[in-house]
Parts: sequence; structure tokens; C-alpha cells
Amino acid sequence: MANKVFVTRKIPEAGIKELEKHYKVEIFQEDRPITKKELIKLAKGADGLLCLLTDKIDAEIMDQTGIKAIANYAVGYDNIDIMAATKRKIPVTNTPGVLTEATADLTWALILAVSRRIVEADRFVREGNFRGWEPRLFLGGDFYGKTIGIIGMGRIGKAVARRAKGFGMNILYYSRSSHPEVEKELGAQKVSLTELLSKSDYVTLHCPYTPETHHLLGEKELKLMKPSAYLINTARGKVIDEQALVRLLKAKAIAGAGLDVFYDEPKINPKLVKLENTVLLPHIGSASYKTRTQMSIIAAKNLIAALSGEKPPNIVNPEVFSQ
Ligand code: NAP
Ligand code: GLV
Ligand code: GLV
Repeated sequence: MANKVFVTRKIPEAGIKELEKHYKVEIFQEDRPITKKELIKLAKGADGLLCLLTDKIDAEIMDQTGIKAIANYAVGYDNIDIMAATKRKIPVTNTPGVLTEATADLTWALILAVSRRIVEADRFVREGNFRGWEPRLFLGGDFYGKTIGIIGMGRIGKAVARRAKGFGMNILYYSRSSHPEVEKELGAQKVSLTELLSKSDYVTLHCPYTPETHHLLGEKELKLMKPSAYLINTARGKVIDEQALVRLLKAKAIAGAGLDVFYDEPKINPKLVKLENTVLLPHIGSASYKTRTQMSIIAAKNLIAALSGEKPPNIVNPEVFSQ
């Protein structure tokens, strides 16, 4: 019978209340990411760990704390050494689905902001520069009749595609598998990565970060994009060779980039900040009130199931239950 769980940061109360029905819950109280040292010290002896994408959970943490289950408060789980967890029969869970629509909305907020120069224009008004309507003031990109290229046609990719249909866009996608339902419903067309990059006016990333997607967009790939095209990333920073992206943005070989995620968060490449054709957000894809609350409940339910020996609804390493 499990008795204690450790939560690495304050999350919405709804999830904590679920956990408290079953366990003694300890929460890291500081308003910053926990360090590895603190995590090992404070989670030692806990049965379950509820952690964030900012916590790197490796074999050493698993061995030093003796945790028996891990619930990640995110859908992406590249922060956790899954192989090490599976080897130790530690179930790992994530929070898919509940954040799909919020993250697709944020992706569109970035697409619109970078293309129609919303942030630059806002700054212009605040700085007292608005002298009235001008024929050539802040001209930007179009959407209607243009082409969006979606890399990773999963839950979020599909939600982004549905919104693109509403904007009257052509949809191309590149993904591991075929998705006939989006082809039928939205007229999306599956193409090679090369074709997607060379034909799209907007390229948006929605694949997970894995060894296969590391630098999926390197210099060679980014150079295939049209100089008038925009790149949007709400997936993970390391899917793009960020240094190459900076060079191409600076050279205006790509029109602009909207980024919610970065190579080495929370560090931001200073060159990226200097560029006018970028919109930069602090990893807020899922940051709506409702979504973050639902994520807390799902993470808690997953942890409760895992600790009672049941297969949790959102298990990412189901092998631990078949060994
Ligand atoms: P998902 O449903 O698993 O979708 C991921 C898609 O990527 C799947 O369609 C998958 O392939 C495809 N894929 C996997 N490996 C690939 C590869 N090597 N090449 C091409 N496509 C590949 O996940 P999701 O819920 O949509 O989330 C996607 C990612 O978004 C997460 O992993 C996370 O990193 C990121 N995210 C970020 C935020 C934020 O705050 N910015 C919020 C939520 C999620 P198939 O074609 O086989 O289906
Ligand atoms: C956010 O980035 C997530 O993976 O949930
Ligand atoms: C702009 O405000 C217009 O009327 O075209």
C-alpha cells in the first residue's frame, strides 16, 4: 500500500485533492524548478512522483528515491529516461488529449502574430508612433488560399489542421503514419518532408522530441523553405537546429518564426531576441485555466492507478505491465 507521493511544484488544487484522497502529499513549495539534489532529498521514500517537463528524471533519481511510479504533468515526456524507468518496472504516464485544443489555439496565435506582425505593431502603437492609417503600414502574410505544412499529424497536428481548414488553407502533412481521416475530412495531403518544406507558406511542428526527430529541421531542410514562409514551433526546441534557424532568419531566407519552445530552455539564444521577424513565447502552449486543471486531475488519476498496480489510462511504457 503506497502512502506518500511527491509533487515537484505547485499545480492546480484539483489534482492535489485527488491525490490527497489516497496519500500523504508533499509539494515542493518554492516558485522555481526543483534542483536534482533537492528532488533526490525530498522525494526519497515517496512511492509516487508527479513531475513537470522542467524536471529531468534519470536513472540516478529513480534509484536514489526508490519511486515506484512517475506521472508527468505534460504530454511530452522527453524529460524522462523511459528506458531506465522500464528497466526498473516503473510505470510512466503523461497527459494527452486535454491540452490538444489549447495548444492548437496557441499555435494559431503564433501563426497569426508572426505573419500579421501583431507584436511589432502593438509595440509601435505603445511607443506613440501611430499617425493614422497608412497604405504600407505593417504589411504581412496571407492565409486564405495559402498552404500550411504540418509535421506530425497527431492530436495537436490534427487540431491545427481543422483550424487551417477554417482559414481556407491547403493542408500538407508529413508524419510517421498515414492519416486517411484528415485526408478525407480536410483534404490534407501526405507528402515527403522535402515537398512539405518547399511548398508550404507556413510550416508548423507537432511531433514529439525523440532520437529520430532530433534536428529534423537542420540547415539543409530549413533552406528548402520559401523566403516568404514562416516557421512555427510549439513541439520541442531540439527538433530544429536553432543556430541554423537564426542564420536563415537573419539572412531573410525565411520570413519569420513563431516559437513557444527553445533549444535549451529557459535559456534563449540572444541572437533570436534581436531579430524582428520572431515572436517568442515562454512555453505556454497548454496554459489555459481549464487545461492546466484537467492536466492536474489526469496526472493524479494516472499516478493513483499506477500505484495501485493497475495499468494507468495514459501509460507511456506499457511493457512494465506485460513483463
Ligand atoms: P501525438 O498525438 O503523439 O502526435 C505526435 C505526432 O508526431 C504523431 O502523429 C506521430 O506519428 C508523429 N511523429 C512521431 N515521430 C515522428 C517522426 N519521427 N517523424 C514524423 N512524425 C512523427 O502528440 P500530441 O499530443 O499531438 O503532442 C505533440 C507534441 O507537442 C508533444 O510530444 C510535445 O512535445 C508538444 N507539446 C507542446 C506543448 C507546448 O506547451 N508548447 C503542449 C503540448 C504538447 P504518427 O503519424 O505515427 O501518428
Ligand atoms: C508541453 O510542452 C507538454 O508536452 O505538455
Ligand atoms: C480599412 O479600415 C478599410 O476600410 O479598408
